[in-house]
Amino acid sequence: MTEKELRALLEDMSLREKIGQLTQLDASVFNDEGPVTGPASELGLNDDDAYLCGSVLGLTGAAETEALQKMCMAKQPHGIPLLLMADIINGYKTIFPIPLAQGCSFEPEAARKVAEIMAKESAAAGLHVTFAPMVDLVRDARWGRVMESTGEDPYLNSLMAAAMVEGIQGQENSYEDRLAACTKHFAAYGAPIAGKEYNNVELSERSLREDHLPSYKAAIDAGTAMMMTSFNTLDRVPATASKWLMRKILREEMGFNGVLISDWNAIGELIGHGVAQDPKSAAELAITAGVDMDMMSFSYACGLEKLVEEGTVSEQLIDESVWRLLQLKNQMGLFENPFRSASTQQESELILSAEHRLAAREVAAKTFVLLKNEDQLLPLEQDDSVAYIGPYIEEKSILGAWSFFGKTEDCVSIREAVEARGVQAEYAHGCGVLNPGQAIYGFRYDTESNLTEAETEKMIADAVALAANKTKVVIALGESNLQTGEGGSRGDITIPDIQKKLLEAIYAVNKNIVAVIFAGRPLDIRDIKDKTKSILYAWMPGTEGGSAIVDMLYGDTAPQGKLSMSLPYSVGQVPVFYSELRTGRHTEDGAEPTNRFLTKYCDIPNDPLYPFGFGLSYTDFSISPVRLSSDQLTLDTTVKAVATVKNIGNREGVETIQLYIRDEFASVARPLRELKGIKQVKLEPGQEAEVEFEIDTNMLRFYDINMEYKAQHGDFTVWIGNNSKTDNSVCFTLN
Ligand code: BGC
Repeated sequence: MTEKELRALLEDMSLREKIGQLTQLDASVFNDEGPVTGPASELGLNDDDAYLCGSVLGLTGAAETEALQKMCMAKQPHGIPLLLMADIINGYKTIFPIPLAQGCSFEPEAARKVAEIMAKESAAAGLHVTFAPMVDLVRDARWGRVMESTGEDPYLNSLMAAAMVEGIQGQENSYEDRLAACTKHFAAYGAPIAGKEYNNVELSERSLREDHLPSYKAAIDAGTAMMMTSFNTLDRVPATASKWLMRKILREEMGFNGVLISDWNAIGELIGHGVAQDPKSAAELAITAGVDMDMMSFSYACGLEKLVEEGTVSEQLIDESVWRLLQLKNQMGLFENPFRSASTQQESELILSAEHRLAAREVAAKTFVLLKNEDQLLPLEQDDSVAYIGPYIEEKSILGAWSFFGKTEDCVSIREAVEARGVQAEYAHGCGVLNPGQAIYGFRYDTESNLTEAETEKMIADAVALAANKTKVVIALGESNLQTGEGGSRGDITIPDIQKKLLEAIYAVNKNIVAVIFAGRPLDIRDIKDKTKSILYAWMPGTEGGSAIVDMLYGDTAPQGKLSMSLPYSVGQVPVFYSELRTGRHTEDGAEPTNRFLTKYCDIPNDPLYPFGFGLSYTDFSISPVRLSSDQLTLDTTVKAVATVKNIGNREGVETIQLYIRDEFASVARPLRELKGIKQVKLEPGQEAEVEFEIDTNMLRFYDINMEYKAQHGDFTVWIGNNSKTDNSVCFTLN
C-alpha cells in the first residue's frame, strides 16, 4: 500500500476498529469456530471485538495461522490482517542454547546465526513477530530470567542485541523470510530487587543510562520494529505507565519510532501497582505514556472508547498508535500477502533440517565454558572406560524454559550421543533432577520427582558400583529447566541436594570426575568444584546439546566459551559483577585480611568463584604485556593498545581477548573496570597473533556530575587479558 492509501484506510476506520488494532489477544481466545472471550467478556470485550483485534500471540503453524488469519480478516470491516506474534527466544523447533549461553560465545555472529535460523523456521510457520531479543542487563543470579539475557555487561549485551535484531529481521530489515523483532523489556526489567520475579527496580539514573539502556539503544539502532514495556516500576513509576520513560527516553532521546507493546497484562497490572483504579484509568495511563498496544489486559478494548467520548484521551493519540501499527503491517507486506512466508512445504524443509541441527551443534560448542580441567582429564581418550552418571545423562528437558515450540523428543541426550559414537561406556541415572517428592510448578507443564527416597538410595548405590570400576566418571548434574525462566527466581542457587549427595558418593570411590552442568543461571557450584577435576558448564544447550557436549568431551571440538555472567561464590554475594564501582574502602580480595573496616564480607570472599569473561580451553595461551602506540590521548586522536597472544599448548584453540578500561579519577565514582573491546583469535600450537584495539574518547564517556555524557581529562588504566580479573595493564592520559 502507498502511504496515501494507508492514511485513507486509517481515516476510514471507526474508533472501535482502531481500538481493536491496539488490542492483542492470546490464541487461546479463539477456537476453530471463532472467539470465546470468556472472562474478558465480563470486562466488556465481546466476541465481535475479538475479531477486530490487531494481533494474536502464541499461535504457530502455517495451516493454523492461515486459518485464523482468514477467519479474522473476513470479519474485520476493512479486511486488515492480523500481526501474529510469539516468543521465539532461542529457536522455534530447532532449539539453540539459551541466550545467556549465547552471551558466553562472546561472538555476535553466533547469536546472529541463531536469530536467522529461528526467524526462518517461524516465518515458515506463519509468524510475523517474535518477542525477542530480551536485552535486559542481568546481574542477580537468583532471578529466573537471567537465562533470557546475554549477561551482565552493557558492551557485550549491546553487540549481542544488535546481532540478534539483524538476524531476526534480515538484510536491511527487509523481514524477507524472517520476522520483525520485538525487543524487551523496556526498561531495566533485569534488575528486580533481590532477584525476585516481577519485583520493583530501584536504580540511579546514571546506572539506568550507562548500564541498562545501551543494549536497548543498540537494538533500536539495529532497527528493531517493536519494543515491549516491562512489568517493573522504575523510580516508583510502573514502566508501562511512565511517560518519562516511554515518550522522553525511548522515543525522544533514543529515537525509537516503532510499535510499543505492553507486556502480558502489564496495563491491567497498573491496578495491582496501585497507580490505576480500574481498567479504564489503566488504559488512560498507558496510552498517555505512549504504549501502542495492549497485550492481554483488555484495558484498551474496554476503556479507550469511553476515554475518547469523555474527551480525556484525544482520538489523535489513538491514531498515532494505530498508524505505527498499520505502518508495520504495511512494511511487512501483509496487506498484499497476509500469509507472508507461511508454507507447509517450507515448514517441512526448514524445521529441524540437517543444516539447522548442525548449526545448533556448532553454536552450542561455542557456548560451553570449561571452568577447570585438572590433570587434563578432558578431553577423554576414545578408549577410556567411562561411567556416565547423573540425571542429565538421559534428560532431554535441556531446551531452556522459553522453548515452547521445541520438543524434548527432538533433542539428543548425552547418552544418545555417546552411544552414537560407539565408545566404551556404561550408564547410571544415579538420582532424579529433583529431590524425591519435590515439585516445581510451571506455566505450561509441571514437573515433580516421582522417585521415593528408597528408590533413589538404590540408584545411588548402583551408580557408585559402576563408578568404582571405571577409570573416569562423567557426571551430568544441574538445576531443573523449571527452576529457571519466568517465575523461576530462586533463593538457593545450588543444585538439588539429592544430586550433591550423588556426587559425594561417587567421589568417595573415584576421583577422576568430570562434571557437566546444566543450568539456566550461574549456580553456586562450590560443592561441585571441590569434588571434581573438570567442570564443563553447558547451560541449557538445546536440541543438539548432547551431541555438542560429547563432541567436546572427546576433543572433536575445544571449549572456547567465556562467562557472560560472574559465577558467584555463594548466593550471599549476588548481585556480583565485575564492573562494580570503587568505594572509599575498596579492597582487592585477599588484601588486608585483618582489617575489618573495608568493603567486604567477613565470612565469604568478594570475588566470585569464577569471574566474568573467564573460560579455559584445552590448550593454553600466553598474552604479552600491553603496548600502547602512545601514552597520551587527545579528544580527537586515538591510541592503539596491542598484545601478542601465543598458543603455548599442544592443541588448536580459540581465545577471546578482552580489553578493559578504568577511569582513574572523575567527577563521579566510576567502575573498577569496563569491557570495551573483544577480539577472538584461533591459533595452532606455537602460533601467535597480534591483537590490536583502538581506543578513542567515545569509549571513555560517562554521565558526569552535570549528567553530561562525555569523557573527562585525566589518567586511565587499560588491561588486555582473557578474563575480567586480568592484571595485564598499562596507563595513558587523556589530555
Ligand atoms: C513475558 C514476556 C513474553 C510475554 C508473552 C510475559 O509473561 O514477560 O517476555 O513475551 O509473556 O508470552
